[in-house]
Amino acid sequence: MLGIDKQCDTFLYRQVIDLITENITAGTLLPGDRLPSLRKMSKTAGVSIPTVRQAYIELERQRRVESRPQSGFYVRHRAANDIVLPTRTATAAPAPLRCRPLMERVYDGVNRPDLVPLGIANPCMARPAAKTLHRTMKRIMARAEERSLGYASTLGEPSLRRQIAYHYLDTVGAPVEPGQICITNGGQEALLLATMAVASPGDVIAVETPTYHGMLELIDSLGMLAVEVETCPEEGVTLSELQRTLEDHPVKACMFSTTLGNPLGVTMPDEHRRELVELLQKHDVALIEDDVYGDLRFDAIRPVPAQFLGSKARVLTCGSFSKTAAPGYRIGWVVSDHHIDDIARLKRAISCSSGFLQQLTLADFLASGDYSRHLKSLRPVLRRNAERMSALVAEHFPAETRTSRPVGGSVLWLELPRQLDAERLFDDAIAAGISIAPGHIFSPCACYTNFIRLSFGHPWQASTENAIQWLGERVSQLAAGTNQDREH
Ligand SMILES: Cc1ncc(COP(=O)(O)O)c(C=O)c1O
Repeated sequence: MLGIDKQCDTFLYRQVIDLITENITAGTLLPGDRLPSLRKMSKTAGVSIPTVRQAYIELERQRRVESRPQSGFYVRHRAANDIVLPTRTATAAPAPLRCRPLMERVYDGVNRPDLVPLGIANPCMARPAAKTLHRTMKRIMARAEERSLGYASTLGEPSLRRQIAYHYLDTVGAPVEPGQICITNGGQEALLLATMAVASPGDVIAVETPTYHGMLELIDSLGMLAVEVETCPEEGVTLSELQRTLEDHPVKACMFSTTLGNPLGVTMPDEHRRELVELLQKHDVALIEDDVYGDLRFDAIRPVPAQFLGSKARVLTCGSFSKTAAPGYRIGWVVSDHHIDDIARLKRAISCSSGFLQQLTLADFLASGDYSRHLKSLRPVLRRNAERMSALVAEHFPAETRTSRPVGGSVLWLELPRQLDAERLFDDAIAAGISIAPGHIFSPCACYTNFIRLSFGHPWQASTENAIQWLGERVSQLAAGTNQDREH
């Protein structure tokens, strides 16, 4: 009945979502049309009313429909500046990385102090904890003297591991044993160790699309292939698409940032994260969970890492202090129940251990409550910067520009007029003293050619505003140029 298949493994409410979405895409349901009532849909689709309600609520969260009190659910008229979920008819194929040279050029710009830094995601720099960390490190050096210059153990300083475990308990109520935590050189090494623990060269790793370019470079460098899974700007990875991908390709692991993603700034709802764990368990696929932004939601509501929402066995959670406290310390971690021995072996082989002085400093920073206080003051600054940047984009960029609505973190994702080449804009911006991240580098096949990511993770200054205005004007000029070219 109506395309609902009760024998199929896909959750029934997901099938209802797919059904409505297909009808919207096909133009059968137009903006302003009323969806069938819960009762009617339940009857015709042969599913319960709560199932239909769940589907409609999900569609509302995806901003495809809106509920009107006492009236029902209606297909939504899209606001001009919402990022649109791309619709695909087939799942993407696993792909090698095509944009490495451009990625390298983006990294070249990241460390240039003469550029306005809109290209690097560096949230804690919006309100650096420099003074407190400096004071703490001085105190540690005075107290620990030579010991603080020595090697830390492979899994890391026990006091820091205990503080990280306590932080999970405190923020999401999840019990973690310090023995399940390995301290790493930043989140990047955490992702590396986790990937090497569960996958081998030639394997396929599923990623969100768009996704953090560091993941793509890592997967490629390990001789693995990335396969992109449709990711909704409001809800994160689309689980029905993930299911199709798992059926179509031999996926070994997923590398997702479901608590707070980069570049979309989206949080997957906890109940979807729970479903995600179930789905991956059913397919015996590991989840490498990138949780480096989890503490940075503007509303301070800490999403629960997938590790704590179902069977832990195949979930490896990667965290870092780079986004929240000090990227230069290069301190991150992996939490893993089943793979911790493999991770310790790989850590020993790759980097032996991580900086001891930084670990002692961060342990103290957390234990004193300074870390929580710092987050409390950082989040409102990030929210304010996000609002200012969105407002300036609306003012200076062409009207058809669409922007993400991040719920945290430090980046905005922009869709520019269709014909615009973000690589050209990147080159022009560098020449004008501004770094940006072109959309190409957020997909293995470099498909986001008319997208850019802008960072608001820095103290807001007149130069930030001037840079956004310059970019908006340049985008308008380039868009006008491509329109003229097409007319000739
Ligand atoms: C989503 C995501 N994961 C991991 C990392 C790497 O973090 P780290 O700097 O701690 O290595 C980054 C850094 O940009 C990131 O954005």
